[in-house]
Amino acid sequence: MHILVCGGAGYIGSHMARWLALRDHRVTVLDNLSTGHREAVQWGELVEADLLDRASLDRAFEGRRFDAVMHFCARSLVGESVQDPYAYYAANVSGTLHLLETMRRHGVDRLVFSSTAAVFGHPNSARIDEDHPKQPINPYGASKLMVERILADAAGAYGLRSVALRYFNAAGASPQATIGESHSPETHLIPNVLRAALGTGPALKVFGEDYATPDGTCVRDYVHVDDLAEAHLRALDYLDANAGAHAFNLGNGQGFSVREVIAAAEAVSGRKIPFSIEPRRAGDPAVLVAASDKARAALGWVPAYDRLEPILETALRWHRAQPY
Ligand code: UFG
Repeated sequence: MHILVCGGAGYIGSHMARWLALRDHRVTVLDNLSTGHREAVQWGELVEADLLDRASLDRAFEGRRFDAVMHFCARSLVGESVQDPYAYYAANVSGTLHLLETMRRHGVDRLVFSSTAAVFGHPNSARIDEDHPKQPINPYGASKLMVERILADAAGAYGLRSVALRYFNAAGASPQATIGESHSPETHLIPNVLRAALGTGPALKVFGEDYATPDGTCVRDYVHVDDLAEAHLRALDYLDANAGAHAFNLGNGQGFSVREVIAAAEAVSGRKIPFSIEPRRAGDPAVLVAASDKARAALGWVPAYDRLEPILETALRWHRAQPY
């Protein structure tokens, strides 16, 4: 199949492009390179286009026949979304709407969409399944939930087939490849922990130790980026047999606190990690852990990385080299 990977120069999108190429799919990457990296586009052609520029989108679709679109383009920082909600609704909602309109004009009727655990807001259960109430507590989560609603409406009106995959905490890097997580500024825990370990970044700031968790620090469900890519491939297959709009939560179903991540990173790197305890970060729920039973049952998805240490090892290998 020929797949358009929107946001394929970014962290998860570049892993997706590699995963598709490994399975002999043809890949075209669409990216505006605002946060993505040209060096990360190692599989397939790069088409520079911006979702907010309809003409550039049409040019990307002209002369190319895509069987499906995987859509990773987004602004994705919770704190920034609270400061600048217009930018988030523009990029994530208007941008996606433009993409969907362009797909429709060009007869492409399959989409796998990057959604997020942030659509749920504060959890009311130990593990979050798909039926959990969706009450986002920040514009980032709200923007993704709005798109999920658009996808449901588009299924009814235009016959769009879609799967929204709600990632919990994407982590790690492909162990065989020269791609990995590189954000500027870097706000995510695992890159910041490993850069503190390697001395390539500052001492870690731990945001809050007064949460209602066993050690007081926030608990998250870390899922390897190649496992996310595999779920996308399976979602594409799922759309062969299933019309409509679908959503799945993707995580390992096991939570690790910030302190546990630090301890595991110290074990994996053999380095002491300097850190300070800081006030809570705005918008952080205490615990976010997925129930991914639906993805396991419907997609046959079984994460290959079900422990934290191997995930950290792949991330560490990337951060040691980090070519971009
Ligand atoms: N953290 C630190 N220090 C850091 C970075 C993070 O203590 O330098 C803590 C955070 O406060 C949080 C945990 O580590 O408790 C994980 O933070 P990340 O930034 O790595 O990830 P988030 O859990 O904030 O983000 C994830 C997804 C988002 C989603 C969000 C919902 O990546 O897409 O959960 O809350 F929106």
